[in-house]
Amino acid sequence: MGTDQSIILETRDLTKTFLGFTAVDAVNLKVTRGHIHALIGPNGAGKTTCFNLLTKFLTPSQGQIFFDGQEITGDQPADIARKGIIRSFQISAVFPQLSVLDNVRIALQRNTGTSFHFWRSDKSLDHLNPRALQLLDEVGLAEFAQELTVNLPYGRKRALEIATTLAMEPSLMLLDEPTQGMGHEDVDRVTQLIKQVSAGRTILMVEHNMKVVSSIADRITVLARGAVLAEGDYATVSSNPAVMEAYMGTTQGELEGAHA
Ligand SMILES: Nc1ncnc2c1ncn2[C@@H]1O[C@H](COP(=O)(O)OP(=O)(O)OP(=O)(O)O)[C@@H](O)[C@H]1O
Ligand SMILES: [Mg+2]
Repeated sequence: MGTDQSIILETRDLTKTFLGFTAVDAVNLKVTRGHIHALIGPNGAGKTTCFNLLTKFLTPSQGQIFFDGQEITGDQPADIARKGIIRSFQISAVFPQLSVLDNVRIALQRNTGTSFHFWRSDKSLDHLNPRALQLLDEVGLAEFAQELTVNLPYGRKRALEIATTLAMEPSLMLLDEPTQGMGHEDVDRVTQLIKQVSAGRTILMVEHNMKVVSSIADRITVLARGAVLAEGDYATVSSNPAVMEAYMGTTQGELEGAHA
């Protein structure tokens, strides 16, 4: 691998086949440090499979993955997480019957390598409070600290999931459809939140909402049928005829909608 310090993540010919069906097809991806990089494409394009390969939830059939200049293709999922590649909404599932603060404290404790002990008194986690409250503040949830998680509105739950992901101190955050299923208000709030927490970090996100993509993505890779179809900033990829054709009859409306 070269010595390009500006590239935090690179895949070379990353490929995944399922019983002869190629879901991810020789994908060469370069994610620049500090960027919000969006991975888009029609349903079934291979976006989630890509994420699963990056976290080693799935084993690549072919190809290589490099992180911070080091090959990580053979790493175990735990190694990947320890190196700072953290996928939200997977590792960071939240406990609905615990308070918002407790969820962040658990995530912080998990990050220190000791497992959470439910039988311990509340006090033993108190040393984590300052950092936990700081993280809640960062995602706009400070006032909800003592609230039971189950009572949070949907968009706020997503914000909590982002806080628990931040507790793992990611240098690369993977977000798979962070605004999925949200109403306009929550979409806007979570979009701004992603922009805000991207400071000092790199974010690779799968996102179908083109308004979100056009407003915060520094760079976009378009996948179709497992392969990279186009890459560039929003203006470049949205005016690419091959991209428009790939979206035809599926989610073309979303692409057009972004211009409104
Ligand atoms: N475990 C699996 N076994 C067989 N086929 C799979 C498996 N996982 C994914 N696929 C297939 O691989 C292709 C890519 O799926 P993937 O979930 O990565 O798409 P996606 O881009 O995330 O789509 P969406 O936008 O709908 O989430 C699909 O055709 C899917 O059916
Ligand atoms: Mg998917």
